[in-house]
Amino acid sequence: MQGLGREIVLGVGGGIAAYKSCDLLRRLLDLDFKVTVVPTPSSLNFVGAATWEALSGRRVTTEVFQSVEEVRHVSLAKKADFLIIAPATADLMARIAAGRADDLLTNVVLAASVPTLIVPAMHPQMWSNPATLENVATLRARGYTVLDPEIGALTSGDIGQGRFPSTPNIISAFKSVIGESEDFKGRKILITAGGTREPIDPVRFIGNRSSGKQGYAVARAALSRGADVTLISANVHLSDIPGVETIKVETAAQMHQALNENFAATNVLVMSAAVADARPLHNADGKIRKKDFTAIELIENPDLLASIAAAKTSQVIIAFAAETKLDTEGAKEKMVRKSADILYLNDVSGGDIFNSETTHGQIITRDGKVIEVAETTKDTLAHQLLSEALHKLG
Ligand code: CTP
Repeated sequence: MQGLGREIVLGVGGGIAAYKSCDLLRRLLDLDFKVTVVPTPSSLNFVGAATWEALSGRRVTTEVFQSVEEVRHVSLAKKADFLIIAPATADLMARIAAGRADDLLTNVVLAASVPTLIVPAMHPQMWSNPATLENVATLRARGYTVLDPEIGALTSGDIGQGRFPSTPNIISAFKSVIGESEDFKGRKILITAGGTREPIDPVRFIGNRSSGKQGYAVARAALSRGADVTLISANVHLSDIPGVETIKVETAAQMHQALNENFAATNVLVMSAAVADARPLHNADGKIRKKDFTAIELIENPDLLASIAAAKTSQVIIAFAAETKLDTEGAKEKMVRKSADILYLNDVSGGDIFNSETTHGQIITRDGKVIEVAETTKDTLAHQLLSEALHKLG
């Protein structure tokens, strides 16, 4: 799961577990979500506004009558893509269930209609009280996801069901809430990565600067979204990804063969490898001596994408174009020529993209969308491309 800069309102109720939400906040920021923290006034007894402001890098208010000119409860509700309330106390859930709006957080909850995760934490007696259980049932019936607290030792010294879940458990529940846990489950993805090498003799080759990082990022992203991933990897210095079937190739011809063997069974092909456009006509058996190394006669390689597209049935194809000048119209024409559905036009001017962790360019789709990608990580781009492919798959 990648946040891609999407907005979360993190509501914090007045329970001791509020301090554990600091860790949750950090993790959400690591995942590239933007988070505004809205604590209830009583929660400030446990964790102060200064802590939330320092961690989130954003202003923190608790009452509707602060920053009134911004109509903050409405603006926060409008801006939010998701709501997480952690910890949720018995009182906070009762107020939400009753539709109360007596602090900023409950106002935001009432004004928002976005996927919401509620993470209760309280003493076991309070959790098992019929009043709380009824409120939880009401909230669930209204479409909120309410986690069950975990069982274990509590701050009071008692043992029972009431503990705040661990951050990874909350994150995994959140993935399900936003529907990104396994959206590629049952789908096969074939990815090419790296750059082919075309041998001149046993010691020399024609190659290119592709590091393979973008293709590996797509493989990781697809795996995390439940896909069955096959990676055709050409000459990279990257570790294998556990859970991904990796086929190592060197030349365009070997990549072509691996594509032919795997394309029919795949749902999405991501062609991020840089394939050499030509290869030496002769691959010398012995090392060519310096005095004879004066010219290399080349022969054109087949266009792998164009050739594989002849066998296309329902596959979604993502192509890449590394260009030193962004020419959207030319890229659209290239996408059609290569029978691709989506093309990432990568601005490689300045040479700083190769081997870099970040990228910028444009995602262009067959149905006419041009999405500007400002400097972002290759992981984030990978998720964006997969989401476009999923959209196309239907
Ligand atoms: N590609 C391919 N087979 C080739 C060359 C490229 O399948 N022999 C794929 C790459 O994996 C990538 C896209 O085509 O997805 C990149 O195409 P690009 O090299 O930009 O286009 P070319 O067809 O080589 O056109 P030109 O160099 O004239 O821009």
